[in-house]
Amino acid sequence: MRRMPQPIPYQGSKRNIAGQILSVFPAGVGTLIEPFAGSAAVSVAAAYGQKAEKFYLNDLNKPLMDLLAMIINEPQEIADRYERLWQAQIGRERAYYNFVRDEFNRTRRPDYLLYLLARCVKASVRYNANGDFNQSPDNRRKGRRPSSMRQEILGVSRLLQGKTVVASGDYREVLSVISSDDLVYMDPPYQGTSQNKDPRYYSGLHPGELVEFLEELNRRQVMFILSYDGRTGTKTYGAALPSSLNLRRMEIHAGRSSQSTLLGKSVQTYESLYLSPALMRRLGVEGNGRIVEWVSGSGLSDDMRPRQLELDIV
Ligand SMILES: C[S@@+](CC[C@H](N)C(=O)[O-])C[C@H]1O[C@@H](n2cnc3c(N)ncnc32)[C@H](O)[C@@H]1O
Repeated sequence: MRRMPQPIPYQGSKRNIAGQILSVFPAGVGTLIEPFAGSAAVSVAAAYGQKAEKFYLNDLNKPLMDLLAMIINEPQEIADRYERLWQAQIGRERAYYNFVRDEFNRTRRPDYLLYLLARCVKASVRYNANGDFNQSPDNRRKGRRPSSMRQEILGVSRLLQGKTVVASGDYREVLSVISSDDLVYMDPPYQGTSQNKDPRYYSGLHPGELVEFLEELNRRQVMFILSYDGRTGTKTYGAALPSSLNLRRMEIHAGRSSQSTLLGKSVQTYESLYLSPALMRRLGVEGNGRIVEWVSGSGLSDDMRPRQLELDIV
């Protein structure tokens, strides 16, 4: 496999920085648990880089998890269904998108969601207050061609089939499945950025509850990595986490901000990763140290290798 597959276009996907996230994985991870899996970019990368044996993917968005389960377990079937939808749209793309959107809102079928994600503006899942998908189509895009979509789907299935559990519930439900060799990677929605008002898909995730959850993980000495905030140039986003959690923050370079590129400026984006005390112990890093020292040899192909090893603990 030449490069990492990615069938689900998803706003907020961590695909571009997955290599850097993987570089802080310890050896010997049993199950990688993602309570906020989204398109599961980090698990796909971890399977690709052989960084975990098994995977547990959870997200509150049930249709999205149904889609992921189908991609993993019934890849030819979902690829066939996507192809039928894609072909049927030819010559009436705009009307067909609206038709599929209505059908998705009625049935929640995963193939409809894949088609909508492939064609909608910024691949962003937006639901209105009734829980209906209401994102508009991007009329410049017909959606990924079926042959290429099939390749992506089969690629993910090869990586995850037979070793992945897919669930759809609140993030806190993963507490019941964690054991001592497991690693939890969390990428909660940034506060204040979600447009979704329906609690079935966007919980209105309460920072206080998230902190309580992190405290519980620490009490159980769970190894975890949390994506939480970041900055573009000097502008930071995301609320601070309490120091009592004893997390270590690292900044990773996430590239140029697309906003600034549009405006003709070049502003760099950095994302924070927080590492739990149990993970730091497993990695053998005490005190302040440059993480770069133990980042080498991740065994990844070029497109996944950290582009810049700006992994100082800050
Ligand atoms: C930033 S996205 C994750 C993106 C993912 N890392 C990727 O690479 O595609 C955050 C996800 O959290 C999910 N979510 C929101 N509230 C949740 C909750 N209470 N429990 C579980 N998942 C939740 C959203 O549906 C969304 O898919």
